[in-house]
Amino acid sequence: MSAARGSLLGIEHLEAAEILKILKFARRMNPDKPRPLLKGKRVVLLFYEASTRTRSSFELAAKVLGAHTVLIQAAGSSIEKGESLLDTGYTLRAVGADVIVIRHPSAGAPHVMARHIDIPVINAGDGLHEHPSQALLDAYTILRSKKSFKGLQVAIIGDIFHSRVARSACHLLSKVGVKVILCGPPELVPEIASTLAPGVRVTRHVEDALRGTDVVMLLRVQKERLAGQKINLPDYIARYQMTAARLKTAKRDAIVMHPGPIIRGLELTSEVADGVQARILEEVRNGVPTRMAILARAVGKMR
Ligand code: NCD
Repeated sequence: MSAARGSLLGIEHLEAAEILKILKFARRMNPDKPRPLLKGKRVVLLFYEASTRTRSSFELAAKVLGAHTVLIQAAGSSIEKGESLLDTGYTLRAVGADVIVIRHPSAGAPHVMARHIDIPVINAGDGLHEHPSQALLDAYTILRSKKSFKGLQVAIIGDIFHSRVARSACHLLSKVGVKVILCGPPELVPEIASTLAPGVRVTRHVEDALRGTDVVMLLRVQKERLAGQKINLPDYIARYQMTAARLKTAKRDAIVMHPGPIIRGLELTSEVADGVQARILEEVRNGVPTRMAILARAVGKMR
């Protein structure tokens, strides 16, 4: 069985026209104005991993559209008792789920679910693979500041190797013609990352990444994911941390983004996190209209 229509499993296989359609529809969504596009539908949020932003904004988006939501977290559910992914899926289908939003530590878990269950499945992050709704809300955020993608350059700095956000962002930005520069030490940004998508390049020098850049996207340097890797945090901070002084190398009207959670004093200073160029909280806010569009698309109401 192939994935049900309306599923969103990744950006890699989504066409540019479809991406632009979702972004356009998201601009028409107003989180303060309920619209019954999902009236009476049941949206299940199945989270096998921790989440604050993604989970709450999917839940709010579903509610504004009139859906009922059910949250299932690994702790406290039958997942803890060893129930398999697919048996959990069949169970949710049996209780009447219309859409499943899933976050899972294994790459491909949403795809397995989508192949076996005849309702739309939305990937809310699968292992190191993709995080399509984050890429869409980031693109939405860029468009709110930059009007169009034409001629833009985005620098992504941080732990790209362990980042599903970076992978989805590279696919999306490349499809809409944006130049992407990935920056960090080889342990976090392997040379092969430049083959992720056309128009992506790798640099080790933060000044090189920032020069001429319109958007600075920072990623969490995730201590728990670096176990066993020889990454020296004081050295990372000295070479890559986004400071107000470094940010001056980027274009004057450059914006600073971060999918969160941010670690002040590591990827960026508080001065940058709270500065006028930061769009970090706006990104969180933009998660709601973007996910409203994704959910409306899931049930065939993105028209
Ligand atoms: C990210 C994730 O979970 O992939 N956060 C998010 O969804 N906004 C990034 C991260 O955890 O570093």
